[in-house]
Amino acid sequence: MRVLVTGGAGYIGSHTVLQLLEAGHQVSVVDNFSNSSPESLRRVVGLAGRNVDTYQTDLLDRPALGEVLASIEPEAVIHFAGLKAVGESVAQPLKYYKNNVAGTLNLLEAMDAVDCRTLVFSSSATVYGESVDLPLRESTPRSATNPYGRTKLHIEEMLEELSVSDSRWRVANLRYFNPVGAHESGQIGEDPQGIPNNLMPFVAQVAIGKRPEVQVFGNDYATADGTGVRDYIHVLDLAEGHLAALDYLSNTEGLHVWNLGTGAGSSVLDVIDAFARISGRPVPYRITDRRPGDVAESYAHPEKARLDLGWKAERGLEQMVEDMWRWQSKNPEGFPELNPEPLNHEQLAKFIQGRVDDQS
Ligand code: NAD
Ligand code: UFG
Repeated sequence: MRVLVTGGAGYIGSHTVLQLLEAGHQVSVVDNFSNSSPESLRRVVGLAGRNVDTYQTDLLDRPALGEVLASIEPEAVIHFAGLKAVGESVAQPLKYYKNNVAGTLNLLEAMDAVDCRTLVFSSSATVYGESVDLPLRESTPRSATNPYGRTKLHIEEMLEELSVSDSRWRVANLRYFNPVGAHESGQIGEDPQGIPNNLMPFVAQVAIGKRPEVQVFGNDYATADGTGVRDYIHVLDLAEGHLAALDYLSNTEGLHVWNLGTGAGSSVLDVIDAFARISGRPVPYRITDRRPGDVAESYAHPEKARLDLGWKAERGLEQMVEDMWRWQSKNPEGFPELNPEPLNHEQLAKFIQGRVDDQS
């Protein structure tokens, strides 16, 4: 299948592009590299031994996006492109509505114009807001507690209305829990800019010695050890969920929602302990105040995806940490900095394909 992946150079996108290539799909990527580097795709292409047609294009550039879709003629789109930092979204809400909501609107119009109406969308467990009715099911009422979460909610609603208005649309809203881990090669992984917002990349940077200690945001929650509990899911399991959703949509009409989680929760201290044990490095930590807006516990009811898609997360916390540590130790500074000048389609092709040529 010809699949367009928006945000395909990013953390989850790059792992999914690799699996799409391995499954024999023809893959194109649109990314503005605002939070990623073409180096991730160069490495993906090296791992897969197959090429990715890549465009440095912003979803907000409607005419350019239209041209790209017209030349690719995708049969389906997996839409990762978006901004995802909760704190930044509180400080700059309009940036988030513009990039995430208006960017998605542009994408949907451009898809419609080329008769492509199959979409897999990166939603988030954040749409369950502060729900305490655990485990979280697809039917759990939705709400948002910050502008980032509200962009996901608005996009889900926009997709629902679109599907009602025109039955040719086939849509999967995938609600991710907490994606972590990396490809087992240690060549691709999450490369946060600046101070990581999320627990696992922060712990990895403490283990490698880049940061002195982890701040544990509260140990007085009503959980087994008092620290926050989350449903961490290996990024490779998550990527497999996208391929399963794509398969499902090729046989089934309408809009569908699936949680992608393991169904099991781990506490902050579980994560710190696992990291210290597996890395063999000390991971000092200090208990601090709760982080505003955090819930005590969040974990999925993952059965719907198993029943409909035949998909189930297979990798446990140990493997998530092992793979994260391999990526962190091999790439302590993340991907190398590249020339910030935008690359045209030919320059990108040369850079990315170079990796396959290097190896042949
Ligand atoms: P990421 O930042 O690594 O990847 C997003 C990619 O989109 C980046 O490569 C970025 O350059 C690109 N992008 C952003 N805005 C763009 C635009 N206007 N035009 C073109 N490209 C653009 O993030 P990720 O962790 O891979 O997340 C992917 C998606 O999954 C996001 O939509 C995110 O909100 C969602 N999600 C992530 C998590 C998580 O914890 N990582 C959890 C739930 C949902
Ligand atoms: N935590 C710490 N110290 C840190 C960072 C996090 O103790 O330095 C704790 C948090 O309090 C929480 C747990 O570790 O209990 C996990 O926190 P993350 O920031 O890693 O993840 P969240 O569950 O808070 O949020 C993530 C994404 C959101 C998304 C949500 C649900 O950042 O965008 O998962 O998918 F909405």
